[in-house]
Amino acid sequence: MKAWTLAATLTTVLAMAAPALAQGDVIAARRDGLKGIARQMEGIKAVVDQRGDPRGSAASIAEMIQFFEGFPARFPAGSGTGDTRALAAIWTDRAGFEAANTNMVTQLRSLQAAAAAGDQAAFGAAFQQTGATCGACHRPYRGPAR
Ligand code: HEC
Repeated sequence: MKAWTLAATLTTVLAMAAPALAQGDVIAARRDGLKGIARQMEGIKAVVDQRGDPRGSAASIAEMIQFFEGFPARFPAGSGTGDTRALAAIWTDRAGFEAANTNMVTQLRSLQAAAAAGDQAAFGAAFQQTGATCGACHRPYRGPAR
């Protein structure tokens, strides 16, 4: 096969593979992001458990807020199949999914306020509520582990 034919064939193959690859990337990237969120929550839990200074969690909370502000965009149409636990309800009930996400951002802002105030009791309570807010989205929109 001449070099130019090979190049043309490769281009066609790559163009066909691109959409599938892109969805796989979107799924892998959002899952990596969520693993990072879980690590940040563990870090904050340690501060709560050890009655540490909540002000030290400010940067971590700010990163989580930024992540969730962009979270719905990580679920483009077509990214519900493949190596993912995302349930179809994310797309059939988009408004509900976005509302659950808005609650998450609002809750993280409360946690942020308690951290900034250096108020351990308020911080602990807001942390519990933050965990509950994660669960409030997981129940309707995340399938079981597989
Ligand atoms: C608005 C909905 C929503 C909110 C809020 C939310 N999650 Fe999730 N989470 C999901 C969905 C959907 C998945 C499945 C993603 C996938 O598999 O593509 C998921 C998956 C995960 C995973 C599994 C990642 C993996 O693939 O190993 C972890 C860990 C996680 N979430 C932690 C959290 C934590 C901690 C919070 C709260 C701080 C949170 N999530 C808040 C919807 C949400």
